[in-house]
Amino acid sequence: MLNTSLNKSLQMLVALLMLVIGISLATPNAYAADDQSSKQQAAKSSDADLWRAVKAGESGYSTDKGLEANVLINKTGNEGKVIRNTYLKPAIVVAIFGVFAAFLIFYFVNGPSKLSHGFSGKMVARWTKSDLWLHWTMAIACLTLMLTGVFIMLGRHFIAPYVGEGLWAGIIATSKFVHDWSSPVFIVSWLICIIKWMPLQTFKLYDLKWFLVVGGYINFGPFKGKHPDSGFANAGEKMWFWTLVVFGLLISISGLMLVLPNLDLPREASIAALLVHGVSATILIAFTIVHIWMATVLSEGGMECMVSGYCDESWAIQHHNLWYDEIKANGSLKYKD
Ligand code: HEM
Repeated sequence: MLNTSLNKSLQMLVALLMLVIGISLATPNAYAADDQSSKQQAAKSSDADLWRAVKAGESGYSTDKGLEANVLINKTGNEGKVIRNTYLKPAIVVAIFGVFAAFLIFYFVNGPSKLSHGFSGKMVARWTKSDLWLHWTMAIACLTLMLTGVFIMLGRHFIAPYVGEGLWAGIIATSKFVHDWSSPVFIVSWLICIIKWMPLQTFKLYDLKWFLVVGGYINFGPFKGKHPDSGFANAGEKMWFWTLVVFGLLISISGLMLVLPNLDLPREASIAALLVHGVSATILIAFTIVHIWMATVLSEGGMECMVSGYCDESWAIQHHNLWYDEIKANGSLKYKD
């Protein structure tokens, strides 16, 4: 009896001992596992913090001392891209198709502005040969820049999906090359143009009236047949000219900032230039479409001025009466032989 209870006690003691040894052997492992997972946790959260900081555009350390070499991701670059994609691209599409459609509708509803007394057949000198060269050099350079610029910005949406990769690569490389090399032609001709034509384009008080009667271009309602006073340039032409002055300047400066890598500008300045370039292009495209509509379709007899440099006398009297009166009075009126 005593033997069996001693046996049992011994068995329990051994079991207890085994348990204690087992626990003590297992405990360091448990601690190690705990340690491992907390290390992993720490590594994970420091990785996340690191990438959060990188994405927020924070700078780190780099032995390369070049501009922004210590910044992995430039935040401004991404923000600029978002603004361009969200606002600028749709704005350019509206500037092209919206303005064109608005004028097409206006043309069908209103019709062109006809010469009230028909063509006289007598042609009055209006622009010199050098003016014509200047206009067409600037216009062709500007239209080339607009076309290639639109390809560069929107081509990936409306050309790339429909052509092969090779052709697309060719189109975009040519667009970039032509865009870069037609810009000096535009800048120089634009500069000469604004200096040469500025004296003709100063606003006068009577220009207000021109705006009030929509330039006399409305063929119905209370404005029908109203031909407001106008000097060499009417108020609409002056508005176009000054828009070209302001946005031509902005587009030229921002374009130079973008095309000259040696300027080594900070990323923020390049992105600002890219956005200013896009906004200016949008405004100039919209105004150019209006300008071409007015010159070719909406003003009967207007196109002749930039083809031969002469305008019909009836056109001069109807659209630029103050200029006509002035050249007649001071004897500078010159007819075509
Ligand atoms: C196919 C395109 C174009 C046509 C048919 C055209 C036609 C004309 C015509 C007919 C005039 C003379 C208006 C007048 O004597 O009263 C003119 C003037 C002018 N054009 Fe153009 N043009 C074109 C493109 C451009 C472009 C792209 C620019 C700008 C870069 C431009 C800038 C000007 C300026 C500043 C004037 C003088 C102000 C004015 O009269 O509106 N033109 N254009």
